[in-house]
Order: sequence, then C-alpha cells, then structure tokens
Amino acid sequence: MLRKWAARTVARLLKEHYSSAPDSFDSLRASGLVTMGRCSGGEAVVHVYEGENGRVIIGDFTGLGAYVEFLVGGGHRVDWISTFPFRMQLGLPGALEDGHPITKGDIVIGHNVWIARSAKILSGVTIGNGAVVAAYSVVTRDVRPYAIVAGNPAREIRRRFSDGQIEALEKMRWNEWPMDKIIEAVPLLCSPDVEEFIRRYGDGATASAAYPDGTQATSNTATGNAGALERGRTSVAGTD
Ligand SMILES: CC(C)(COP(=O)(O)OP(=O)(O)OC[C@H]1O[C@@H](n2cnc3c(N)ncnc32)[C@H](O)[C@@H]1OP(=O)(O)O)[C@@H](O)C(=O)NCCC(=O)NCCS
Repeated sequence: MLRKWAARTVARLLKEHYSSAPDSFDSLRASGLVTMGRCSGGEAVVHVYEGENGRVIIGDFTGLGAYVEFLVGGGHRVDWISTFPFRMQLGLPGALEDGHPITKGDIVIGHNVWIARSAKILSGVTIGNGAVVAAYSVVTRDVRPYAIVAGNPAREIRRRFSDGQIEALEKMRWNEWPMDKIIEAVPLLCSPDVEEFIRRYGDGATASAAYPDGTQATSNTATGNAGALERGRTSVAGTD
C-alpha cells in the first residue's frame, strides 16, 4: 500500500517537474527572459526550468529558423553521486536551494546572426556577431564572430570573411546606424561585396551613431552587452 502510494507520488512529481512544456515565445519576451534587438525575428522554443533565471539575449538583425531551441539550464548535477534531484522530486526540505538545477548562464546571441532551422543552443553559449549556425546543429561552445558552425557538437566549418574584413565589420557596428542609413546600405548589405561595404562605410565613422529613438549607441561586443543588445523592438515575421 505504502509502496503504491510512494510510486504514485513520485510519478506525479516527475510529471510536474520533468514536463518542460515551454512557455510561449511571446510570453517569455514579455517577461524579459528573452530579449530581441532591432528587427530580429523568428520564434524559438525556450526551455525554462523551475528554480532558474537564465536569459536569452538576442541582438539586432538576427534571424531564428523554425524549431530553434534554447536550453537555458535544467542541468542535473553530474558531480553528485545521484543525478536524480531527490529533494525536488520528493518535496524534501532544501528543494531548489540545494544546487539543482544548474545552468551555465545566459545565452547571448549577437547581431546579424542566422540560426538555421532546428538548431539547439545550450546555456552559457555566446554566439558572435555575423555568425551562422547550420541547420540541426547543437551548439555547446562559444562561436566566433562571422563563423559558420555545424554539427553535433557544432564545430566551426569556416569563417565568412577574412580576419581583416571581420575586424573592420565589427568596428563599423552598422546595426546601430539610423534606419535610413541602413536602408541606403541595403544594396551592399545584401551583396557579397564586403570590400566595397567597408570602403564606403567603414573606418568607425559611425561608431557613435544614435538610435532612431535618440538614445546613444553602446558597445556591441560579442561577449554580450545586454544594454546594447536589448535596444529596438521592431520585430518582423519569422525568417524561416
Ligand atoms: C550553414 C549552411 C548555410 C552552410 O552552407 P555552406 O557554407 O554552403 O556549407 P557547405 O554546404 O559547403 O558545407 C561545408 C561543410 O559543412 C558541413 N555541413 C553543412 N551544413 C551542415 C549541417 N547542417 N550539419 C552538419 N554539417 C553540415 C558539410 O557537410 C560540409 O562538410 P565537409 O567539408 O566535410 O564536406 C547550410 O549548411 C545550412 O545549414 N543551411 C540551413 C538551411 C535551412 O535551415 N533553411 C531553413 C531556413 S532557417
């Protein structure tokens, strides 16, 4: 009898705590757990776990393909003798305060990134500006700016431009330009002529540009500056 009751209780608790039915993307954005920069678009599945407050911070002009997933935590303790979260599952004192679950930290996605269909990004990962994550990849480590990564675990297959070109693009911070200037640059932004783009708009000449709302631009380093990445909210439809 007691055994049956215990089995039923454990089954109920397992159902409650292991069903990581994701909240809707919109509600996560409204709660501030997910932030998206200017013109970024797409919807992802974000797995959020009880007892954690990891965030997903997405920069400007970044596109998420369909079925992209962010795992902001939910890690079990592989350094414990049992990975089973006894206190949480059995309702014992110390539940959610004993170090379970764990996360490796916020997920930070830079500006001008494309995360292709069904890619999965794990907690603590920073994806640099201009990077591409190939379809169905599992990203467990940081991604350099303008790198293309693929596979499980995702590995860099190449960089999109030369080191010098990437350095110049990073200095330009074009995502911070006023929108009319960005629109003027679209013929080059949507071309492979990176040299001409750098020649015409480069040299950091616009590094202090203000946003259309009049606020001043701040740093946009790939290591993630929430203040910079959270600016602007003109969301567009999914980019799949
Ligand atoms: C990322 C992507 C754009 C790379 O394209 P690319 O630069 O032309 O790369 P290539 O096709 O030349 O492939 C380069 C290498 O990466 C590998 N690769 C490419 N995509 C991969 C993927 N999704 N997973 C694992 N490996 C991949 C290739 O097998 C190849 O490996 P090899 O050099 O050992 O032969 C493309 O592979 C991709 O994932 N596109 C996504 C399409 C999509 O999801 N569309 C829906 C809209 S979001």
